[in-house]
Amino acid sequence: MIKAVVFDAYGTLFDVQSVADATEQAYPGRGEYITQVWRQKQLEYSWLRALMGRYADFWSVTREALAYTLGTLGLEPDEAFLADTAQAYNRLTPYPDAARCLAELAPLKRAILSNGAPDMLRALVANAGLADSFDAVISVDAKRVFKPHPEAYALVEEVLGVTPAEVLFVSSNGFDVGGAKAFGFRVARVARLPREALARELASGAITPLTVFKALRMQEETYAEAPDLVVPSLGDLPRLIGEATAARLAPAG
Ligand code: LAC
Repeated sequence: MIKAVVFDAYGTLFDVQSVADATEQAYPGRGEYITQVWRQKQLEYSWLRALMGRYADFWSVTREALAYTLGTLGLEPDEAFLADTAQAYNRLTPYPDAARCLAELAPLKRAILSNGAPDMLRALVANAGLADSFDAVISVDAKRVFKPHPEAYALVEEVLGVTPAEVLFVSSNGFDVGGAKAFGFRVARVARLPREALARELASGAITPLTVFKALRMQEETYAEAPDLVVPSLGDLPRLIGEATAARLAPAG
């Protein structure tokens, strides 16, 4: 029986592509390149730091990844500029169906479990007007690891008091779907870009940095256990959870 629905933040509830306005404004003509390399490096640095036992919070990782990205363009901005630009991650646009989805899921417990640092998540949720939509906003920072480390997912039980089997974890990030499944959650993958649509885009020959992002980050991982539920958008989630619950409760035969 599902008692809590726990969401990934970046890429699942909030559109990481929305930093493109800030990057394009700061570096006209190079915004898309910066947006994509920045996100890839941000994730990569979180995993590397976790593996190395050199935790630094996601705000540090976000700035380090931006410095790397701008460095590839021969740019060396100062710390104040990096911090200012990285604020774009605290003002991400929520997906249009996020607010309604969260409202419809009540009275189930609703939470975020994110690699974001506590201050980042507070700002992100408040800027999107979603502060009242969650029972808890949980940052991995309390464990000084990053998803997909199992200790990160273990925070959900500690904070919400629900067992892994009572959690439906929702993510659009392949690494996070795999991590949450391996941990023991039931998992819904938000598949905003079907594989066929990506294949068509690749076949067209117009392969942009965004296309590469879609190929690397928006598809199911081959090493990971398959999710329990695949939804094309957040808007479909409340109905599908309702149907799955009803099917399980319906008398046999
Ligand atoms: C999150 C990022 C990693 O944890 O998607 O919110």
